[in-house]
Amino acid sequence: MCGIVGYVGEREVVPLLLEGLKRLEYRGYDSAGVAVVDDGRIQTVRAEGKLDELVKKLDEQPLAGSFGIGHTRWATHGRPSERNAHPHTDSKGRVAVIHNGIIENFATLKQQLLAEGWEFVSETDTEVLANLISKHLQEGRDLLAAVQEARSALEGHYAFAAVTGGEGQQIVAARSGPPLVLGLGDGEQFLASDPTALLRHAKRVMFLENGDVARITRDAVAVFDAAGEPVERSARRLAWDPIQAEKGGYKHFMLKEIHEQPRAVQETFAGRVSFERDRVELEELGIRDERLREIDRIHVLACGTSWHAGLVGKFVIEELTRIPVEVDYGSEYRYRDPLADRRLLALGVSQSGETADTLSAMEAARDKGALLACICNVPGSQATRISEGTLLTHAGPEIGVASTKAFTTQLVALYLLALHLRQVRNGGLEPGLLRVLAHLPQALSEALGHEREIERLAWRHHRASDFLYLGRGINYPIALEGALKLKEISYIHAEGYPAGEMKHGPIALIDPDLPVVAVATGERLFDKMVSNLQEVKARDGQVLVVTDREGEELAALADLADAVMRVPAVDELLQPIVNVVPLQLLAYHIGVRRGADVDQPRNLAKSVTVE
Ligand code: M6R
Repeated sequence: MCGIVGYVGEREVVPLLLEGLKRLEYRGYDSAGVAVVDDGRIQTVRAEGKLDELVKKLDEQPLAGSFGIGHTRWATHGRPSERNAHPHTDSKGRVAVIHNGIIENFATLKQQLLAEGWEFVSETDTEVLANLISKHLQEGRDLLAAVQEARSALEGHYAFAAVTGGEGQQIVAARSGPPLVLGLGDGEQFLASDPTALLRHAKRVMFLENGDVARITRDAVAVFDAAGEPVERSARRLAWDPIQAEKGGYKHFMLKEIHEQPRAVQETFAGRVSFERDRVELEELGIRDERLREIDRIHVLACGTSWHAGLVGKFVIEELTRIPVEVDYGSEYRYRDPLADRRLLALGVSQSGETADTLSAMEAARDKGALLACICNVPGSQATRISEGTLLTHAGPEIGVASTKAFTTQLVALYLLALHLRQVRNGGLEPGLLRVLAHLPQALSEALGHEREIERLAWRHHRASDFLYLGRGINYPIALEGALKLKEISYIHAEGYPAGEMKHGPIALIDPDLPVVAVATGERLFDKMVSNLQEVKARDGQVLVVTDREGEELAALADLADAVMRVPAVDELLQPIVNVVPLQLLAYHIGVRRGADVDQPRNLAKSVTVE
């Protein structure tokens, strides 16, 4: 979950490294650092805290050179501090290393290196790498061979890059787990943990495969596989627009991304549906219809917000296809002995496509013969590479650590996939099932139109120490998602609960200080939900309700509740996509009101590439 960047070329390297790190800061922001090689000498500057601290330090201690590496850290081994910040150099000062991931056998390697006289100053596993590579350089190998040799001793999941002073302009990078992407230019090459960092400078990218080691020089990149053999990796054009990764006048990325949802949702279904012919066109999924007809159950594998999307997906897929669906946390599934075989569709859902637990769960299902597919936002990411079929969400880069537009576009993709399965298995779709999608962008815009009221609500409740979120049926996952959003960006304790379960425990929590946020939309469970809210009011709880009701029903609900957050009504299977918007806005404005750093909440990282 750290961010890695590198540059070899003719331009001044530090501004380019800082620009790349700025775009990767969402991956971790405990410390940052750069190493630049000038005249054969490695110079590093590192600082604890966010990237701005490094920028200040570089103003005082400027570095110059035309190749180097940079890192932004999410701490795994050793607390956030300058001493533990990357790049790490070996005790002979020959090599500088940046690293993302975990070297699981670092303690054993460290003992061996200590016994051989190598010294350590940090608590990190990365310093082991630096000393190990230096040891192999000392034995007479060049940097590429030293990295290959060092890698053969490593256990764990890692991506790293190394530079040395004595061998001309080059970076050597290795990947075994977390992603690494090369940005290809003319007389200059880039390296990064994800393509967002390359948007402005490289239009063509090359993703490294697991086991690859790459030597990156000004004019070329050479890639070698796990056996050390030269391999060709295909280069592709990068379709994302750099402007999408800017704040565009919004105070935070999160707010911008919340407001991008009408467009992101539209782009996720546009071109994949024919309203005239009532057909979903998902050839890009890349899985033959006959194969999909063999499926008799689905396991959705995901983490965090993507797991919540999976829970909504269960309702949608089961209703539209009658195929049984289970939804599992990647971190649980990977350590079970899953009941997977050829008739199972294992569906990974991931914004980044690089969440370690989700990827391992997907591989566990695939290894037992399951058909593996994914819904993912990042083209070329590992989830897409290991899957037989991919359905991309077209959310564009999501920078805010709290997932928003990735979630709503995942829900659209799940709906499309469910319709595709129905179409394939039933030979067609009933009129109307698709057309409901057409209203969605407008409905999202209307929901966003109530932002000022929600902001006022946030001001009223931002001092609460706990929140309870309630939902039923397809809206229960929305209660979970609302609670997660609030927790992660405002640090207020919040719990999501199925409203019908409230009387089996959480009702004991209700008192006048506990805001209860309830999602009451649709027909099926609306009356049941209102009864649950009566139970809350009878115990003096404060009810904040999300509803699609109009007229008398709205008036009755407004009498019962302390506040109403209005959303337009859409088809019941799509309603969660609209319902989550006020909960995203509520969490955002409470976080801002409390002075929290909503784009980069404490302790979190956007891509969790370690387990
Ligand atoms: O990239 P992924 O969708 O696989 O990430 C999964 C979770 O880490 C992610 O959804 C996390 O829960 C977000 N911070 C939620 O806002």
